[in-house]
Amino acid sequence: MNHDRKMCNRHHRAPRADFAHRRLSLRESSATFAERKATLARPMSARGYFVALAILAIAGGCDMLDMYDEQRYEPLEASSFYDNGSSARPLVAGTVARGDLREDEALYTGKQDGKLVEELPMEVDRDLLVRGQERFNIYCSPCHSRVGDGFGMIVERGFRRPPSYHIDRLRQAPVGHFYDVISNGFGAMPSYASRVEPHDRWAIVAYIRVLQRSQNARLADVPQDQRDQIAEAGEEEAEGRAAAERRDTREQRELERDIREHQRPPEEGERRRREIERQEREEPE
Ligand code: HEC
Repeated sequence: MNHDRKMCNRHHRAPRADFAHRRLSLRESSATFAERKATLARPMSARGYFVALAILAIAGGCDMLDMYDEQRYEPLEASSFYDNGSSARPLVAGTVARGDLREDEALYTGKQDGKLVEELPMEVDRDLLVRGQERFNIYCSPCHSRVGDGFGMIVERGFRRPPSYHIDRLRQAPVGHFYDVISNGFGAMPSYASRVEPHDRWAIVAYIRVLQRSQNARLADVPQDQRDQIAEAGEEEAEGRAAAERRDTREQRELERDIREHQRPPEEGERRRREIERQEREEPE
């Protein structure tokens, strides 16, 4: 720090002294006022510009260095002042940072008076479900798969397979359990608290309920006026499948016919081979 300051001062001073000297020598000489003015106002040479720029750069740098080298600790910097050698101090017990007061137990822990909550601590609407779907597909589907059956891509590559969300135990589990698993992890599954904030955790929980419903839906779950659509769609699908089957068998038959037509009988190949051998014997190279 001191060293830097000294360097800066030297650069500051030298040109100033030089300038003063030039004024002095001009005054001492017999030059007229006009001559003196002309000399001092003479356009700067290229070298002069360069020197001026360098001075500015260095001077600017010095101001910055003053702030840069202020007496303070960098994050995580060591300190010999405290016994534990760390410059960072723990918060005073009971301190709550602004905006971090998490009074709502259900919202932030998934529990009320220590018991897992049965209902989402917020209104469930379409926006929440869409958000939940998006977050689920990003953070959970790699292991749990997009439908939650536990055959995600990471599992296909060898990671331990999680239980399907569609087993009875997890269908009966209170929503608080899912919130708790995301927040604190569960067995081989790590916590996602650092990546998914509380509101998004609930959005994911709501979406898991949607998945559970989707894999166990009955026709009776569908509103009456939409059941006909499903029946129609079902018929169309059945028709499509039958057509595809017909097409497949036709293609298969054509393929078999092609193979039969193009395959030469094995004797033909043998005859041709003997013919070539005979020719080679008759006209050796
Ligand atoms: C890296 C893979 C992986 C990811 C990503 C993952 N999980 Fe899991 N999850 C697991 C495994 C493995 C288990 C089984 C853990 C065990 O039984 O040891 C599990 C178990 C669970 C369970 C069942 C707990 C029980 O009661 O059996 C739930 C619920 C769950 N995860 C929810 C989630 C949610 C929600 C997300 C996304 C925020 C998520 N998981 C992301 C691997 C993952």
